Amino acid sequence: MSPHGRSGGSYQVVRIIRLATELWDKDSVDEQERITGRRRDGRWLDGAPVDEQPNYRADPRGSLTPLDSHVRLATPDRRNPAPLVRRGYSYDRGDGDTGLVFSCFQRDLADGFEAVQKRLEGESMAKYLLTTGGGYFFVPPPGDAWAEALTSVR
Ligand code: HEM
Repeated sequence: MSPHGRSGGSYQVVRIIRLATELWDKDSVDEQERITGRRRDGRWLDGAPVDEQPNYRADPRGSLTPLDSHVRLATPDRRNPAPLVRRGYSYDRGDGDTGLVFSCFQRDLADGFEAVQKRLEGESMAKYLLTTGGGYFFVPPPGDAWAEALTSVR
């Protein structure tokens, strides 16, 4: 049982993130890869294949994978990733406003999105990003026990 009770459910976080595409496109592929921390084809910057783990401990100064790269800040400890599931949806409003709708789900906001977002404040990608909207949403589990739990008097 979770420390938050039996009712289950999840929290969704949505962020609408505008990307400074013109600025980003001026950078070389090599620079872009040092900002995200992965090769475009998914390989890790220390040479680890797509489906394996990078070894950050062997690279403490970040000479292979920069310390302020997106993936390294998002998951500095590969044995202990933040408990969330995520995916991004790219958007293009047709008026030059393009970017990513980031969505993730987690049981605990502090351990999930908030822990990662806090670390990402110092990322080298930050200068290309502007969060223009989003929010937190509670996603109830099936059934109505969760609603009864909210209103029951103990
Ligand atoms: C426009 C904004 C963003 C872009 C372009 C972006 C891009 C990427 C890319 C290219 C990767 C590596 C490939 C992958 O694992 O999917 C990645 C991984 C990741 N991103 Fe983002 N991301 C953005 C926003 C965010 C936000 C807001 C969060 C959470 C607060 C986040 C959390 C993560 C995490 C946890 C990983 C996995 C790191 C790992 O496995 O080592 N990202 N992102």
